[in-house]
Amino acid sequence: GAAAKGGATCCAPSSAGGGGKSGGGGGGACCAPSAGSDRVAAGGDDPLLMTSCCDVSEERSPAVAAAVAKLHPDVTASFYGCGSPLPPALAGATVVDLGCGTGFDCFVASQLVGERGRVVGVDMTDTQLEVARRLQAWHAEQFGHAASNVRFVKGLIEDLRAAGIEDESVDVVISNCVINLAPDKEPVLAEAYRVLKPGGELYFGDVFASARFPQELQDDPVFHGECLSGALYFHDFRRLMRRIGFECHWVVTDRAIAVAPKLAARMTGIDCRSRTVRAIKVEGLEDAREDYGQVATYRGGMVDAEDVFVFSQDQVFRRGVARRVDGNTALALAARRYAPYFTVTARGAH
Ligand SMILES: C[S@@+](CC[C@H](N)C(=O)[O-])C[C@H]1O[C@@H](n2cnc3c(N)ncnc32)[C@H](O)[C@@H]1O
Repeated sequence: GAAAKGGATCCAPSSAGGGGKSGGGGGGACCAPSAGSDRVAAGGDDPLLMTSCCDVSEERSPAVAAAVAKLHPDVTASFYGCGSPLPPALAGATVVDLGCGTGFDCFVASQLVGERGRVVGVDMTDTQLEVARRLQAWHAEQFGHAASNVRFVKGLIEDLRAAGIEDESVDVVISNCVINLAPDKEPVLAEAYRVLKPGGELYFGDVFASARFPQELQDDPVFHGECLSGALYFHDFRRLMRRIGFECHWVVTDRAIAVAPKLAARMTGIDCRSRTVRAIKVEGLEDAREDYGQVATYRGGMVDAEDVFVFSQDQVFRRGVARRVDGNTALALAARRYAPYFTVTARGAH
């Protein structure tokens, strides 16, 4: 329960080694496991129940849920994410987790990539990394791996080069409720783009907002620590993604975050959402999803999406069923990990 969190704010650890956080002791925690929407809506003064940010169990796919069941309780008790950013077809992949905390998603990914794959967790906070590293060998044994396929690196997600991550070396970059905390999102997303191989995927869960938070709330440690006021404003995010090379991105899941009345009263007109977003690093994407008359057919068989693959909220693929797709989606499905599972027809005139 909430007590397991020790009353600390999850989102701006007081032991932070850098990163320009506005405060380390905000007194709130977005991710108390018992912070269900109903209890949040009921209000109350418990600072550990101020949002429903971390009610993510319904978002987990069966394979992810099975992998979570094998995690050490110290890791599950210190989960501070707001989504489940594990795409399908990860076997053999190299995955980097931005802001890995105590390693929850890294240890899930460790099972999904298997012994041929690699997982690197990057975080700036020693106390989080200590838990993750202490349980590395335990998890390898639990998963039946001869050696751990996970590595934890101390570093800033704004500078993955310093963390030793080379250009175009990664298949999938994931992150869970971290990018909202970065004062400047641009270097974080630009680094994700740099380290991805051509055709690689950025797949992350985070807090998004329907409007920009006023400066006063951005500077408020409670709003920041609750992962609210640093949220990515939809249209700024879209512009930023385009600037760094992701011309197009897709929203895979989207749910409202319930906010306790005493905070909600100060953010009138701002709707906070927990979203999972997918972006593929591929040449030729356009700023609009133009229709070139293409059709994609899912052959089926991706682990965790054997018969049905939710590529985005508005594009669900069923095994063997041809579906009209826009040019950007066609490019994404023909890239790297997804290509073996799809047939995509050529572009026609537009
Ligand atoms: C809300 S917690 C999420 C942790 C983890 N992803 C999870 O789901 O449990 C945010 C984490 O991001 C880390 N973090 C925040 N800003 C960072 C930055 N600029 N560079 C590296 N780590 C950062 C914090 O140390 C913390 O562990």
